[in-house]
Amino acid sequence: MPLARAAVRWSVGHALPRTMLRRSAKQGDLHGRMFVATQSGDRAALEPVMDELRAHAPFYRGKFASVTVDHAAVRALLSNPDAGARFLPADRESSLARLLSWAMEDAPLGPLTPPSLLVTEPPDHTRYRKLVSRVFSARAVEKLRGRTQQIATELLDQIDPRSPVDLVATYCSLLPVTMIAEILGVPERDREKVLRLGAAAAPSLDLGLSWTKFRHVESALREFDQWLGHHLDGLRRQPGDDLLSQLLAAQEDGVSLTDVELRSTAGLVLAAGFETTVNLLGNGIALLASSPEQRRLLAEREDLWPNAVEEVLRVDPPVLLTGRMTRADTEVAGVPMRRGSVMVALLAGANRDPQVFPEPDTFDITRQNAREHLSFSAGRHFCLGAALARMEGEVGLRTLFERYPEPRVHNGAVRRSTRILRGYERLPVTLSPLTL
Ligand code: HEM
Repeated sequence: MPLARAAVRWSVGHALPRTMLRRSAKQGDLHGRMFVATQSGDRAALEPVMDELRAHAPFYRGKFASVTVDHAAVRALLSNPDAGARFLPADRESSLARLLSWAMEDAPLGPLTPPSLLVTEPPDHTRYRKLVSRVFSARAVEKLRGRTQQIATELLDQIDPRSPVDLVATYCSLLPVTMIAEILGVPERDREKVLRLGAAAAPSLDLGLSWTKFRHVESALREFDQWLGHHLDGLRRQPGDDLLSQLLAAQEDGVSLTDVELRSTAGLVLAAGFETTVNLLGNGIALLASSPEQRRLLAEREDLWPNAVEEVLRVDPPVLLTGRMTRADTEVAGVPMRRGSVMVALLAGANRDPQVFPEPDTFDITRQNAREHLSFSAGRHFCLGAALARMEGEVGLRTLFERYPEPRVHNGAVRRSTRILRGYERLPVTLSPLTL
């Protein structure tokens, strides 16, 4: 029976949409073509499709979804109370709805399964978010700057700058995972495992996985949840000075989360804490390494670093898109949407909207309004970790470029194959200048 349930989850969530979108792509549907273009993780493949979508702003009405790359429409959609983050068959009594709810009975907890914050709406969403948001406020995060700096320096100390090194493995992934693990009280001996499981579970945000990949992802999610359960048991016995111990204490006071809510929230915060920031660092290194002018500016004016991070987020966002489904008839950016409409917000497209960002394809760290990008989403699901990511991005990039001002990226750079999470899988770099 578990296999039959998994087969239904895969068919409805991956096989069917993949077949339908590929078919619609062949018929010229831009949503379908966008799906096909995200297959390689390569930005260049997507850009012409985004340009075509822009000609249909604010919404391109595809066969299966309305898609927007328009900055104002993306913001309006993400802030609309009638557009929910959960995708459910419009008719809850239909046989498809009943089949799905049967199949979901033994689905592993994941970022897109309730009660994950990402797919929960008020009032539950407000309750979960309130419990964790204090720890990630801008003020709380500022206190972590010194520690982040120390970790970044230690990581660089361990790298031999004379030979090529993969900076994703040695720096970009380790800085955020160490930080979020310390915030959550994950012991050092478990970090390797958490990183491995996080990477294996990352495609869980994607649509259209193969059966083998889907099974692999679900088994990583189960192993992650099991590990989290043990970890929480340990903290129950021996609480520390970390976020999870605080959540457990709140749970014991009876104010807050059930066991499953706790595991889901903790799991999301942990995974989101490193699976995205790794991309910000990698994308930033690649962009800056190929922009000597921008590097020179940063060397002269260190006050530009925060804005440089915003510009990296704008030009090469770590999260490509998000989706919503209307729970009632509504209007988005002046366009009427019927209940049950599926909508796709291309964050990467909104970030290149020429009405908001003049010369949108130019990487310019002095851009006045770079911070208006939508890479952290908007509205009630606005990224909880934005302040942490910004701080880690700034410390991580600055520490690297101050020590090694002219890194050279080698040919073997490889983008990740995930569709939603965008960044580098491998970034081979030589750090120190050539000595002749
Ligand atoms: C550069 C790094 C990051 C990027 C680009 C990013 C991006 C995003 C985006 C786009 C969303 C909203 C998705 C939607 O609206 O459907 C989101 C939500 C979230 N992010 Fe981040 N994120 C980053 C780093 C982090 C970090 C470091 C944490 C750790 C605390 C984190 C925790 C979360 C959580 C818990 C949510 C769910 C919020 C909610 O649904 O209310 N993120 N992130």
